[in-house]
Amino acid sequence: MTTQRIRSFLAERRPEGPCLVIDLDVVRDNYRTFRKAMPDTAIFYAVKANPAPEVLELLASMGSSFDCASVPEIEMALAAGAPPARISYGNTIKKERDIARAFALGVRLFAVDAYEEVEKLGRAAPGARVFCRILCDGAGADWPLSRKFGCEPAMAVSVLEYARHHGLTPYGISFHVGSQQTDPDAWDSALASAAAIFGEMAGRGVELGMVNLGGGFPARYLNDVPAAREYGQAISGALRRHFGNRIPETIMEPGRGLVGAAGTIKAEIVLVSRKSDTDQARWVYLDIGKFGGLAETMEEAIRYPLLTEKDADPHAPCIVAGPTCDSADVLYERTPYALPITLTAGDEILIDGTGAYTTTYSTVAFNGFSPLATYVI
Ligand SMILES: Cc1ncc(COP(=O)(O)O)c(C=O)c1O
Repeated sequence: MTTQRIRSFLAERRPEGPCLVIDLDVVRDNYRTFRKAMPDTAIFYAVKANPAPEVLELLASMGSSFDCASVPEIEMALAAGAPPARISYGNTIKKERDIARAFALGVRLFAVDAYEEVEKLGRAAPGARVFCRILCDGAGADWPLSRKFGCEPAMAVSVLEYARHHGLTPYGISFHVGSQQTDPDAWDSALASAAAIFGEMAGRGVELGMVNLGGGFPARYLNDVPAAREYGQAISGALRRHFGNRIPETIMEPGRGLVGAAGTIKAEIVLVSRKSDTDQARWVYLDIGKFGGLAETMEEAIRYPLLTEKDADPHAPCIVAGPTCDSADVLYERTPYALPITLTAGDEILIDGTGAYTTTYSTVAFNGFSPLATYVI
């Protein structure tokens, strides 16, 4: 929900152009809520969700660790005050020279899902701890992460064995159940696979120590989502079911669940039009679209709450689109969006729940539009 602090900031500062405002109080509350819901699990914030320095500094000061996808993200986490021991290089796709750079910066925890990646790590990060990511189908997630990441569980055993032969420390298993995962039981089958891999590795004389539960914890958009507590209960139940009384160390990598609800984008309506005099649906064009930071509207996957000052007026279905000269820049058309019939050019529109995966998705200057500005309050 757009907080009072965000509303006051916008009313006082009246920033020009579309912008994201992040309320750090919400990030702080979300972090505490996760800590309480999953007290035995270390939080590695997924920096890619929103790398604003103020967000990283706050989380570092609260004791968070960081899941980084690249060397620049590692440098940002370090600059925010995180020691290298609290950083994981969680991308399974890394150049060998980037691995070497991360290792030189002190990072000792790396993700793999392939033999060739193990070979790179063996050369560039000798002795480092590695965890192998396993495939997850992403069922139940609004933003599934597909077959691009992870390997079959049976192969994970061989990859970890291969890591040992390359002078690395096989440390654990990771997976990602898909982003905006609204089913708290989605972790169950991946944890069953993880437990089976732990057993198989123990039979080979390798004691794995860690399960990385990934991200997937949702933000509230138009519909209610289960509370963090429900995820904590479902996951600890699944851990007990599959690992018995030998529950491993666990880490989690929330991105959206920590920062999604902390942000609101202020945008403006540029044009309201119809395609014919008898057209039923109006087209509402905003000054922000897919290329300005709303990339997660791809396939209409994420449906953001849209708020206007005319919300008390009657509503009718609209097609919502961005401002660029690209026909892909349409946000909601397959399922039109009900908006007030009184909306006109110049009206302000608030796009809620936009704290995650917006600023970093915004293009540098597509059609001459500036990248999405951020204000952190
Ligand atoms: C490796 C990894 N961890 C964590 C996350 C964060 O996921 P979420 O925002 O669903 O919490 C992502 C997102 O893409 C990821 O790729």
